[in-house]
Formats: sequence, structure tokens, C-alpha cells
Amino acid sequence: MVNVEPRFFLGCDYNPEQWPKEVWNEDIALMQRAGVGLVSVGIFAWARTCPEEGVWDFEWLDEVMDNLDRGGIKVSLATGTASIPPWLARKHPEIAPVDERGMAYDLGSRQTWAPTSEIYRRHSLEFLDKLARRYADHPALALWHVSNELGCHNRHDYSDSASAAFRVWLRNRYGDLDTLNHAWGTAFWSQHYSSFDQITAPRVSTAQRNPGQLLDFSRFSSDALLDQHRAERDLLRTITPGVPSSTNFMCNSVTTDMDYFRWADEQDVVSQDHYLHHFLADPEVELSWSAALTRGTAKGKPWILMEHSTSAVNWQRINKAKPVGGLLRNSLQHMAAGADGICFFQWRQSAAGAERFHSALVPHGGPETRVYREVCQLGEAIANLSELEGSTVEADVAILFDYEAAMATATHSLPSEAVNYVDAGRDAHRALRARGINADVVSPWADLSGYKVVIVPTLQIVADDLAERLRTVAESGAQVLITYFSGISDLTSRVILGGYPGAFRDLLGIRSEEFYPLADGETVRLDGDLGELTARVWTELLQTTDAEVLARYADDPELGGPQAGGPAITRAVRGSGAAWYLSTRPDDLGWRTVLDRVCADAGVNPTVEFEVDESGADPATDPGHDLIRRSKDGQHWLFALNHGARPLTVTASGFDLVGQREVENPQVPAGGAMVIREA
Ligand code: GAL
Repeated sequence: MVNVEPRFFLGCDYNPEQWPKEVWNEDIALMQRAGVGLVSVGIFAWARTCPEEGVWDFEWLDEVMDNLDRGGIKVSLATGTASIPPWLARKHPEIAPVDERGMAYDLGSRQTWAPTSEIYRRHSLEFLDKLARRYADHPALALWHVSNELGCHNRHDYSDSASAAFRVWLRNRYGDLDTLNHAWGTAFWSQHYSSFDQITAPRVSTAQRNPGQLLDFSRFSSDALLDQHRAERDLLRTITPGVPSSTNFMCNSVTTDMDYFRWADEQDVVSQDHYLHHFLADPEVELSWSAALTRGTAKGKPWILMEHSTSAVNWQRINKAKPVGGLLRNSLQHMAAGADGICFFQWRQSAAGAERFHSALVPHGGPETRVYREVCQLGEAIANLSELEGSTVEADVAILFDYEAAMATATHSLPSEAVNYVDAGRDAHRALRARGINADVVSPWADLSGYKVVIVPTLQIVADDLAERLRTVAESGAQVLITYFSGISDLTSRVILGGYPGAFRDLLGIRSEEFYPLADGETVRLDGDLGELTARVWTELLQTTDAEVLARYADDPELGGPQAGGPAITRAVRGSGAAWYLSTRPDDLGWRTVLDRVCADAGVNPTVEFEVDESGADPATDPGHDLIRRSKDGQHWLFALNHGARPLTVTASGFDLVGQREVENPQVPAGGAMVIREA
């Protein structure tokens, strides 16, 4: 994958330009002590290397590269284009991205460039050309780090250059205006376009904007950023054809604007950044989901965790430090999901600048700190895990994830803003994880044939062939579970008529005629074969055609609609499998109940037998455990990671590579982690 020996490595962003040279030698010594194998250099160093137009200073970087090489540390060299230097911003203010009210962003932060700016593109490639030629043959160069988190701050740009590029994109997509007008439904509110020139990036307007236009603008914005990646990567391929490149993704529950399944096809190796989101109720559950999503983008191949934090970040309202052992456990969570390299932002905690209170490998307090000591322990653990190189993760369950559906669900004018695209998929993942069942998160066009269970959460917009593909999977024995607000529209956002869920009506054997979304905090009771369940967010008025009813909405007058007493969860036999419909969002225990039955029907078992006393744990906030197996050539390694407060006992025996001892049916203590080479 990447030319780093061993292939399982510890790494970090390294920003020596923030420090006087005296520190650089100590850096190398401390990196060696911690076992750092790869560093990303020069991510934000354009202004340092080219402080004025035509003035170049590579000497500092030569020295850094040579130091690292002498120290036996490989470099993921950044293309340095993530942040433009002030001279360029002042000379060409038209590079700036523009917000949806038409205000240009000023410099003073980072990523202050419009993805469609030709001037930015030209300057970024000129800079990269010089950089790449200078280090093409440098022995430390192992990987190109293209830009940085493309779209982190400039994903939606409403500048004039964006409008012009959007029009070109639309011509390519639709060919002619009639097709575009139909797709966007412009007969509505007098929006018919008679010339492409009338179309702009959808800045704010008086009321709700056209949903088709918003969805296409999101797709276009993702493509515009990907174009910048391609331009940089293609240049690098001509200069250093033997060096792989990657741009770091942000696969997580809150960033759904970049279509990473499509981006992944353009990467030599997938790399990912992840930070614990303490504003969500369940940061470690979220981590587990994000890591599975990253594995999905990498199509099961090994990937690199390019950034996470040793302890606190600095961009949340309250920045929680990690508990003792959290750094190791979180790192192993990513490894369990297929990461081979574990890197962090950043080597030394900055003394100045916006991220001076963000944790690092070497904190403000220096190496005599618990964080640096834990970093060294992680380095040791990673070295002990090197035998896992080339191992992969397998799962019987697939959860479909579609970035375009996420974009569509983020537009306005839907039945309920409480439907968040990521929720249902994460709910399912969380419930399976609680049962010790590992799931893949895959694109809608992934090969589904090997899976015993396929879950399709809130897939509002649907490609023409998906229902048929799901039917084939069900008929050959899989249990397919589709949730509320799926199959509603085609890929343009035009509703499929004749009753919901249009695309999946026949597959599911149901027909639904009206949605009854619930108010915030409102719940609904379900009863039937699955017992008593509680659900929220969504209900609907459903009839079955050839499906059986497994749960009904309680006949409760408070529900205030004709759906009361009607079907809520259905199941239609299809060939040797079945197609399930879940018309509401159960709570966590409800999800577990539904998936217990689905998995039992499918013959899906937990990764390993385990025991944990969950009494008293609130499923909504309990961080639970990860039980995931990596395998290679008939050898298996079990990751048993206990994030919760109760001991976890697993029925497995072998050698624990973290604790370096033989274990038999071990108890993983609260907060503990084991990676067991199974006997
Ligand atoms: C990432 C970014 C890094 C650093 C980090 C802090 O989004 O790539 O440069 O800012 O966040 O958490």
C-alpha cells in the first residue's frame, strides 16, 4: 500500500515550520522513541515555502526531509495547496469562496479558495509542480498527501465561478433544458428556464429553494472538489509515477457532502480523519460507524487513519480530554475496522495559532506527560500487531449508505426535518454492534450477493435498478430490511407516483398513502409478534398487499391519525429470503428486537460469544463494545474492545497481542482492549 516498513505504522502530521530549528533534532529522537513510522509534512506550508510571488524557500523543507530520512521515518508529503498564502489572496480576491448570501470569505483562516477558481487551480498546480520535482527522488517520500480534507470549510461555494462551472456541469448531465426543466419540476412556482445562462448556484432566496437544483448543486460541489484532487493527482502521476497518493476523507456522521464512495475510486489508498464528536450522545459508537463506513469506501482493502486526536480537540463547545487508555482503545477501533496505519493531528502541540489547545503527541508539557507516554505505549502495541498486515474484515450484514440520498435529505421542504439521513443506518449499526455482530457499510452499487442481511435505511432517492437488485438478493436467501422514507423519488427528486414507497412497493408487498411524522419527543407504541416496542420520528398509513404484519401501531387515539392500529413492521417472503419494511424509527431496544429476528432468520451469528451485564445501562448513551475479527490465510485475530463501564467476557482463547499473554475466555475490563490471535 504505502512504502513504510512495517506496514502497520504509527504516524502524525508534522509541522516543523511552526518551530525553531533547535527543536527539530529532539523531534526526531522523540519520534523514534515513540515508534513513529510516517509523518505528513507541509500541509499548511505554502506561505512558508513561497512567501511572495516568485520567491521560493525550499531549504527548510530539504533539511526536514533529510532529518526524517536519517531518522528512518517516511514522509507523506503534502501538496501544500490546502491554504493559500496571503500574497495570492490579496492579488486575486476573486479566488475567495462566497457564502449563500453572496458574501466573500476573507483570508485569516484556511481553505479560503473557491474550488472552481481557475486562478487558484493554476497557482496550486504551479506550486505543486515545483514541490514535486524537488522531492521526486527523495528517499523519505512514501506517499503524497493531496490537499487536506478537501471541502472541510469550502464545500459549498456560491461564487460567480461556481455558477459558471455549475452551468457546464448541468449541460453535461442533462444535455438540454427540457430535460433539466422536467428533472427540477420548474413548472412549479414559475421557475421554467429558457436559457442555461439564467441558472446560478442556489443562493438564498425568499422561500424554499428548488429541491432538484439543491441536490444537483450538492452533487456538483462534490465533483468540483474531486476535480481539484484529480488535477493534483494527475500532475503527481506524471512526475512521480511510482509514489501513491491519497486525500484524507472525513467519513463520519455529520459530513455527508462529499461523495466518498465515488472519490474512493480515484485514490491509490483510502485515508480518513476522525474525531470523537462529543456533541453526539455516543462518540465511540459513532467512531465505530465511521470506521465501518471508511472500510466501505476502501472496498474492504486496508486504509490509513490519517488523523485523530491523542486527547481533546479545540473546536467543540467543551473539548473533553480522553481518559487513560482512550487513545489506545480508539486507535484499535480503527484498526479493527481495517486501518493499517494509525496517525494523529499533530506531532507537537502548537504554541500559537487557532489550534494551540488541540492535543498532540507531544503536549505543551513536553514528553514527560501521560499523553506522550500513552503514545509510546501505542507505538509498542502497533509494533506487536504487525503480523496482522494484509488481514481483512468480513461481515454477513451490509448497510447501504448513499451520499446522494444524504444530500437529498439535507434539502428543505421534506415531510419532517427530524429525519436525518445518517440516523437509521447508525441505529442499525449500533444495535448490531451491541449484539456482537459486525456490519459493512457499502455503496448502493456494491455487490450485495454475499450478504445474508441487507439493510436499506431512509433511502429517499433511488436508482432505477436498485429494487430489482434487492429482489434478486432476497430471492436468493437474504433478509432485506428497508426503513421509513425510502424509495420515494427517482434520482432527480421527482416523486414516484402510485403510493409509497414507490420504488419498493412490490418488493415489500405494501402500499402506503400518507406520512404521519411525529413531533419532537413524541413516541408511539407498537405491538404484535415482536412484542411491545417504542418508536419515534415517523409513522405512516400502510396497507399490505402480500406481506405479513409483524407489528402494528397501537390503537391509540393520541396518535391522532388513521395509521393507529395499522401495520408498522411487515415482512414479505421473496424466494428463499424476505423483504422487511420498518415504517418507523424504533428506539435502541426496538432496533435490537427487530434485528434479532432478522438475523435469526438469516442465520447471522455474533462474531464471538460474549457476556456483559447490561442491566442499568442506557442504550442511548452506553458506548458498548466492539467485537470484530480480522483474518488472513486461515488465521484470525479478535478485537475485543470494551468502551463501557462493565467487564466484558469473551469466549475465545489464544494470545493477546496487546497484553502479550495467553488468554482463555478472558474478561476485558472496563475501558480495556485486547487483540487475540485465536488458537
Ligand atoms: C482536521 C484538520 C487538521 C486539524 C484537525 C484538528 O480537520 O485536517 O488540520 O485542524 O482537524 O482537529
